[in-house]
Amino acid sequence: MLEDTSFAIHPEKENGTRNQAFSDIGKLLTVGKKADYHLFHCEGGEVAIRFYRDDIVRIVMNPLSAPRMEVSKAVIAQPQKVAVKETEDVKEYKLETNRLRLHIQKAPFRILITDQNGSHLVAEAALGMGSKANGEVIAYKALQEKDHFYGFGEKTGHLDKRGEKYEMWNSDVYAPHNPETDPLYESIPYFMTLREGSAHGIFFDNTYRTFFDMGSHESYYSFKAEGGQLDYYVFAGPEPKTVLEQYTYLTGRMPLPPKWALGYHQSRYSYETEEEVRELADQFIARDIPLDVIHLDIHYMNGYRVFTFDQDRFPNPEKLITDLREMGIRVVPIVDPGVKKDAEYPIYQEGVNQDLFCKYIEGDIYFGEVWPGVSAFPDFTDEKARKWWGEKHAFYTKMGIEGIWNDMNEPAVFNETKTMDVNVMHRNDGDPTTHRELHNVYGFLMGQATYEGLKEQLEGKRPFLLTRAGYAGVQRYAAVWTGDNRSFWEHLQMALPMIMNLGISGVPFAGPDVGGFAHDTNAELLTRWTQVGAFTPYFRNHSAIGFRYQEPWQFGEKYEAIIKKYIRMRYEWMPQLYSLFYEASKTGLPVMRPLLMEFPRDEKTYNINDQFMLGDNVMIAPIMMPSVTDRAVYFPAGMWIDVETGATYEGNKTHLIHAALDKLPIFVKRGSAIMQTVWESNKEKAYKILMLHVFAGEDGDSYQFTYYDDDGETFAFENGDYLQLNIDIRSTAERITLSVEKSGAYIPPYHEINLMLVGRKEGQHVIINGEKCKGNPVITLV
Ligand code: GLC
Repeated sequence: MLEDTSFAIHPEKENGTRNQAFSDIGKLLTVGKKADYHLFHCEGGEVAIRFYRDDIVRIVMNPLSAPRMEVSKAVIAQPQKVAVKETEDVKEYKLETNRLRLHIQKAPFRILITDQNGSHLVAEAALGMGSKANGEVIAYKALQEKDHFYGFGEKTGHLDKRGEKYEMWNSDVYAPHNPETDPLYESIPYFMTLREGSAHGIFFDNTYRTFFDMGSHESYYSFKAEGGQLDYYVFAGPEPKTVLEQYTYLTGRMPLPPKWALGYHQSRYSYETEEEVRELADQFIARDIPLDVIHLDIHYMNGYRVFTFDQDRFPNPEKLITDLREMGIRVVPIVDPGVKKDAEYPIYQEGVNQDLFCKYIEGDIYFGEVWPGVSAFPDFTDEKARKWWGEKHAFYTKMGIEGIWNDMNEPAVFNETKTMDVNVMHRNDGDPTTHRELHNVYGFLMGQATYEGLKEQLEGKRPFLLTRAGYAGVQRYAAVWTGDNRSFWEHLQMALPMIMNLGISGVPFAGPDVGGFAHDTNAELLTRWTQVGAFTPYFRNHSAIGFRYQEPWQFGEKYEAIIKKYIRMRYEWMPQLYSLFYEASKTGLPVMRPLLMEFPRDEKTYNINDQFMLGDNVMIAPIMMPSVTDRAVYFPAGMWIDVETGATYEGNKTHLIHAALDKLPIFVKRGSAIMQTVWESNKEKAYKILMLHVFAGEDGDSYQFTYYDDDGETFAFENGDYLQLNIDIRSTAERITLSVEKSGAYIPPYHEINLMLVGRKEGQHVIINGEKCKGNPVITLV
């Protein structure tokens, strides 16, 4: 209709078809110095350069005005005092720290970042940084032939992201997750570059819709945003591990989770009644299959109203939770952000009366449709709303609940755009701005509200939070599951690079729905998937309404026995896993690592998608294909021992490994060790027996690691109530020498550690803290 009017020749229509070019930042005009940063005034905008540490620099370009030096909610670090050497000649400015050198060319304005030896880290391409009149900002960076890219949070596809294009816009995607399905639920605009063994990182801290193009051009890559500033941080590396330390220094680290959250979780959309949940728990107990958590999906609520239980389906939730707890099982309910529009529903009343919901600038509440029907959405960008939401969780914590599952927090809305109107105006803690700018942090802030509320209410106990949506820094509040995958072998395969890249993106606590969410799973797939799940940081079996039930026993005894073996294995490895989680909470290093993280100079590891490291000495090479029982496994440098057979494999080689359905190939590096326990029962999960398996080395092998333990539940460890053993193992042809250094005040239920020697040579004797061992070697703790 409009086409018949003058609208047909609307000027915007013409512009819309032309791809408006970015205008370059142009020449440097003047330089100013602020308290702790430099300000470069150029023709096409102003650029601020601030050092956060001598190995972390922030660059902010604002095309319109002076750069805003506030940070997004992702950044928690304050800039340190950094000694910066400053020089200038006719062509360039130079800013130099002990670790980084910035060559700032004056005309046109270009920044070259090198390490202290002059090796290029981040160089601007012929095109530099630029902007468009519509508010877009972009950075073009030189691409080198040997660049490999990792991170980008939660993305499908392979481990190495070179050649890919990504968008960051938190999206609810039920459609199959294909290699081209993008974006998904999380936005982590961060990546690490690995170039001939050296690594550096870039975090583009812009919460608008952002885009990364790592492959359209031969000589450069680019990142851009729909609005806001070109605001990014460069991390000097030089190891992949140091980049992780630097990135998580800036955006924070995962708090140590409660030990129970590392156990096995059973979920289903939905276990619909109290009876069904009790029956489920009884099955686990009767079959002696370990279980820590049962999730309650949306059916537990009264008409999908958050902070309620359906009286018919769950007449006595408190008793259910108490009874299950006595069996050693916890309950984690789902909580979505949508609050049902219902004038008689107290949460909705409070939200309206206290002005806590997202609104348009004109003052109307934004309504969108989700599970409960028409709903309002708390404005988590506002401190008052965050606090209110957190406090509401007393409804759950009073019943004994210590963990929450946040879903649909992109936020998902059942409409064309899949989300909230981008014109909604968020309060943003006193600095109001649109949903277009804050969409990507909505779920992150819901996580903050929830985690902080739970922490307050649990009075010293550690909360557990699982989330679907998030932004950079989400690790501070929540574990992440990768959303609605399917029961396809391809999705099992995809989960590995996905979780490894999440780990590189600062999120160590992540996992996929084991068995696959949508679609019917099958016996073999569930079995192979459970083997993998037993070693991914987060371990939850979850399936969708209308599809086959996939609890461990659903496919008969043969499969149940194998599935049970691996769920138990998760618990046998718990001492090892918990130590790795502790390390992640301290350093940001992921629990599950791509091989390149441990072997960054071995190019063969750069795109290994179907193997992973657990910590620095265990390598896992699962079978992820139907009807397959043999696979090629690449072994990096060193000698590797199969934990089940004791067979040794030489590194820098690929070997063919046989793994029948009941076998997950796990290899430990010779000369190193792992800590294990014995499965007791669901009621008695605290381990009483501890075993240190030492994979005897030969001449010169040495290994150091930290074993960590505490009460698993409270924050008492922050006041010294932990047990830490720094263990050093050295092997020669004659002896295996262990030195164990103990610290911390925690007294564990076990009083000694049994040393189990694997592959000890004839004549090799064992020395512990200077004493030669006779009989079965033991490390005494008291
Ligand atoms: C979403 C979630 C899924 C959940 C379902 C019902 O699809 O991703 O895990 O089971 O909603 O709440």
